[in-house]
This record gives sequence, structure tokens and C-alpha cells, in this order.
Amino acid sequence: MSEKHEITRPDVTIDAMKSFANASDPRMAEVMSLLVKHMHAFVAESKLTKAEWLKGLEFLTHAAKITTDERNEFSLFSDVMGISSMVDVVSQPPGGTPSSVLGPFHNHDSLIRPNGSDLTDGQAGDRVWLHGRVLDVHQQAIPGAQIDFWQNADNGLYPAQDPAQDPQNLRCKIICDDQGGFSLLTIRPHPYTVPTDGPVGALLAASNRNIWRPAHFHIIVSAPGYVGLVTELFPAGSDYIDNDTVFGVRPGLIVQIKPCQDASIAKQYGLSIPFNEVNYEFNLVKQS
Ligand code: BEZ
Ligand code: FE
Repeated sequence: MSEKHEITRPDVTIDAMKSFANASDPRMAEVMSLLVKHMHAFVAESKLTKAEWLKGLEFLTHAAKITTDERNEFSLFSDVMGISSMVDVVSQPPGGTPSSVLGPFHNHDSLIRPNGSDLTDGQAGDRVWLHGRVLDVHQQAIPGAQIDFWQNADNGLYPAQDPAQDPQNLRCKIICDDQGGFSLLTIRPHPYTVPTDGPVGALLAASNRNIWRPAHFHIIVSAPGYVGLVTELFPAGSDYIDNDTVFGVRPGLIVQIKPCQDASIAKQYGLSIPFNEVNYEFNLVKQS
């Protein structure tokens, strides 16, 4: 090959990295240049073929075609690649409760319900009294903190997947009391599979990967002046707790469902003793 046709790999990488140097946002320049650096290294190290790259583009095109406001295949791709969890890990402020993935079933329209609400509304499921406190990193209460809670029903489905459920089923917002306390009655959540009818499902199948998530409660904790916390609580002993397909489980988020003998709580919710209890303290970090 004559010299004029040669284009060496380092030239492409350096030129592509430099091409972002003039971005008006310096952080964007930094992130895009690093993304180019590491993606080029991936192409070089894997000796990616044109056919493989094309397959990747087809995957992204398919993801785009099925992504809607209600269902985001890119977000699921980020989850199953462990990217969402890595972002959680590197952006975790020190001292606070670990964060975990948001998932696709959060609904901004959950109603504010009184602290202590019974969310079970006669439906099937093993009752669980979930309560606790929202504290700062010095164990001081954060009065008025907001808990945004959602989970799946006894059939393993969220309302968005199950037309038989009321859209507000097993979800609510609760404002904590003066001691940062919150309380609600819910049911035991169940493991379930991530959506598998799109390209991410095909990727998991081709990789012989687990498609299940362990049982979990989703919770977003927020309070003015504090870094918001998107997290999950995982009942100990759930199937798939050691093999979450989106890598969301952290040791500090595993909770025990314990037998409780509190007669006044049993009376309040019409439960017989002993009933199931989960008690958890969230720690929020002050905004800097
Ligand atoms: C979920 O927890 O609902 C979920 C999280 C990530 C991907 C799919 C589902
Ligand atoms: Fe979930």
C-alpha cells in the first residue's frame, strides 16, 4: 500500500478525541473525549469486524424502534450491561444509603397518602409492615422527608404490565413525621423478569443470561437540601438475590422480613400476631 493511503489507528483516536475539545461545556468535552478513547480501545482490543459493528448498529436501531414514553429499551440496555449500576457506584455521595436502579416502572403521578397507609386494599399477598426513618449522615431525623414507594403485586406484575390492576396499586408518596418516621402496610414483593420481547431480551437469551430480578421494594427518598436517593430494598433470601440481571443488589440494601408482635400495629391493620415487619433507616447526604 502506498504511504498516501495509510491511516494509522492512533491518528484516528487522537483526532476523534480532539474533535470535542471546542465543546462549549468543558465537562462535555472531557466525557466525549474519554468515551471516544475507551470505545476505540474496545474496537482495537476486540479486533471488531465490520459485520460485528453492523450487528451492534442493528441492535441500536431495533432498540430505537421499540422505545416509547412508556418503554425505554436503551435504559434497559444500560441496566443489563451494569452501566446504570456503575453510575450509581461512582456517583454515590459518601455516608449515605446506597442507591440502586430506578427501573422502568416508576410513576411520577403516585398519590400522596397518609403516613401509616394500608396499600393492600384486599388484594392477595403476604402482608408486610414496612416502616423506618429518614435520617442525615449524623443520625439526625429529617422531618418532612418524602418517601416515593412502588413494587409489584402478588402475580409479580406492576400496574403498567397488568390492566387488571389499578394504576395506583401498591404505590404512594408518604411525608415523614417530625422524627423522620414513615410507615405503610404492603405485601411481600416477588422476583420477576425484565422485559424480554425486544433486542435486550434477545441479547440475554443469546448470552444464556439470567433474566430475573430478585424481589424488591422501590423507594425514592427526597428532602429539601439533601441529595435525592433512588434505591431499592431486597428481602433477604429472595431467589436471584445473588444474580440480579441488572446488578442492583448492594449488601446495605438487603433487609430481613422479621416476625413482629406489636399488638397496636396488628390492631391498626387487622393483622394477626406475629406479622411480617421490615424496619429500615435511610441516610441522606446534605447537598454541597
Ligand atoms: C425494575 O426493577 O423494575 C427493573 C429495573 C431495571 C430493569 C427492568 C426492571
Ligand atoms: Fe422493580
